[in-house]
Amino acid sequence: MLTRLIPRTDEAVPVIGCGTYRAFDVSDARKIARLGDVIGALFAGGGRVVDSSPMYGKAEKVSGALLAGAAPSAQPFIATKVWTHGKSEGIRQMEQSMAYFRTECIDLMQVHNLVDIDAHMRTLIDWKARKRIRYIGITHYTAGAHRAVEQAMRDYPVDFVQINYALDDRAAEQRLLPLAQELGIGVIVNYPLGGGDLMRRVRGRPLPEFAAPLGFKSWAQILLHFIVAHEAVTCAIPGTGNPEHMTDNLMAGALLGDHRAEILSWWNKAGL
Ligand SMILES: NC(=O)c1ccc[n+]([C@@H]2O[C@H](COP(=O)([O-])OP(=O)(O)OC[C@H]3O[C@@H](n4cnc5c(N)ncnc54)[C@H](OP(=O)(O)O)[C@@H]3O)[C@@H](O)[C@H]2O)c1
Repeated sequence: MLTRLIPRTDEAVPVIGCGTYRAFDVSDARKIARLGDVIGALFAGGGRVVDSSPMYGKAEKVSGALLAGAAPSAQPFIATKVWTHGKSEGIRQMEQSMAYFRTECIDLMQVHNLVDIDAHMRTLIDWKARKRIRYIGITHYTAGAHRAVEQAMRDYPVDFVQINYALDDRAAEQRLLPLAQELGIGVIVNYPLGGGDLMRRVRGRPLPEFAAPLGFKSWAQILLHFIVAHEAVTCAIPGTGNPEHMTDNLMAGALLGDHRAEILSWWNKAGL
């Protein structure tokens, strides 16, 4: 598994992680057991980053319990979010996240969709100084919010920005990815498979001719390689509730080289 340095640090994280939106918002025991296999596949394939949010229903509680039950050798990098209004409610929500993840220190706490960022940022700066969190982040998931994300990257001391970027959604290339490089901010990519829509568009199609010689074995690997081969990207967090998909996704992080040009050229001709 390839790793990338978190800018301005000597800490590296694997380029593929696991998102928990939708798939981890479950309470059925059989579904939770299957998600345990997803987390098992994440660690077995060399991954570490798990991204969640209080916005995702039971996802923090479920992923926290599964990470607590993972092998002692597993070293998760826990990224979650604050998603509420007001300083005191934000503190209450982040305390609850820590309880769900059974930890005194969350690796990355992000302001979800920039909601009440000014109120939460004061807490995050304080908590980082007190080692209750290690990194501060901000997130959004639409290109329409990139201007506000850019302003927040300039205004606040953020370590990570989490944004939407996919083969069919490349607005981040214009300003946010270069700005992250300029300012030394890590980039986590959400919606790397277009929320599943990109996978539906290619389903049933044979892989392009370039795929096999370069080592690609699935569409997900092609689509994820396009994201993580961008030098500004620290990590992509495809969401899945399927252990086989988790393993498939992780293999995208083991492919060497930069084949973005071939992928983009195919995409432009495919007319999907
Ligand atoms: N504002 C924000 O902060 C924000 C917004 C959106 C998302 N996020 C984060 O980003 C993560 C990723 O976004 P997302 O989960 O919405 O979308 P995504 O990762 O682009 O796509 C997820 C979809 O792709 C499918 N999939 C995953 N791997 C696959 C594979 N190898 N083969 C076939 N299908 C595959 C999943 O289905 P299966 O379950 O069947 O695999 C699911 O339907 C979220 O989980 C969340 O942690 C953050």
